[in-house]
Amino acid sequence: MILNKVYKKDAIKFLINGVDNNSVDLAIIDPPYNMGKADWDTFKSQRDFLEFTYKWLDALLPTLKQSGSLYIFNTPFNSAYVLQYLVNKGLIFQNWITWDKRDGFNSSTKKYTHGQETILFFTVSKNYTFNSDDIRVPYESTGRINAAHKKGILKNGKRWYPNPDGRLCGEVWHIVSERHRNKVLGKTQKLNHITPKPLEMIDRMIKASSNKGDLVLDCFVGSGTTAVSAQKLERNFICADNNAKYVALAKKRLNEVE
Ligand SMILES: C[S@@+](CC[C@H](N)C(=O)[O-])C[C@H]1O[C@@H](n2cnc3c(N)ncnc32)[C@H](O)[C@@H]1O
Repeated sequence: MILNKVYKKDAIKFLINGVDNNSVDLAIIDPPYNMGKADWDTFKSQRDFLEFTYKWLDALLPTLKQSGSLYIFNTPFNSAYVLQYLVNKGLIFQNWITWDKRDGFNSSTKKYTHGQETILFFTVSKNYTFNSDDIRVPYESTGRINAAHKKGILKNGKRWYPNPDGRLCGEVWHIVSERHRNKVLGKTQKLNHITPKPLEMIDRMIKASSNKGDLVLDCFVGSGTTAVSAQKLERNFICADNNAKYVALAKKRLNEVE
């Protein structure tokens, strides 16, 4: 197993033949969603899609360490199936993270407009890394917090002072999608990859759920966001995608990391 490389490989073959069992501290997996966004995101039926999903999950689980963590992206609907599957496999459910994309898939006048994706956070056991102080976020009620910095707030008879690094991170993440962030005068631009994830979101997962020198895995790495974040944050990585164009893009981005 050679680390810090992006392989051009099918995810399932890569997981079975290319990654040692019990070696991965953190897996960040952003797989197909079966939304027909590209050939690789199109399945004959929901049944075929779930069969594929369960296959790569089965190949992934043995690679995780006993202290390992797992984040999986998908639509809320598909995530309900994945959650059920992993609970039955004995993994420990930690959070259903809602990514508020500040964007939206499509507008609809017949139901509420979509605007979120789900990230399931699981661990293999109760003994896992979670660096909550490394991912604190700004307090929202700035007026009240500014006053509290000076005099504190009386809570249960004790004075409470805000943490200078912000509040603990919640499970609803308000992060602008790359599609929306790159719009010019409101117009969507063609990006190098059709579904890149924001780097700050992957940074948050890696900071929270791994330490320097740990091994991070992503078997659907696309434009390379997980690899780029891992390299920047001094973690090891092992990543794959079966599309040569995306592997080249990921390598280019890695060469640009300072
Ligand atoms: C949702 S995208 C990942 C995007 C990535 N998180 C990023 O930030 O760029 C899913 C990726 O899975 C790849 N893919 C689809 N089926 C695959 C398979 N069977 N094996 C390996 N990669 C696959 C696609 O080429 C695509 O780049």
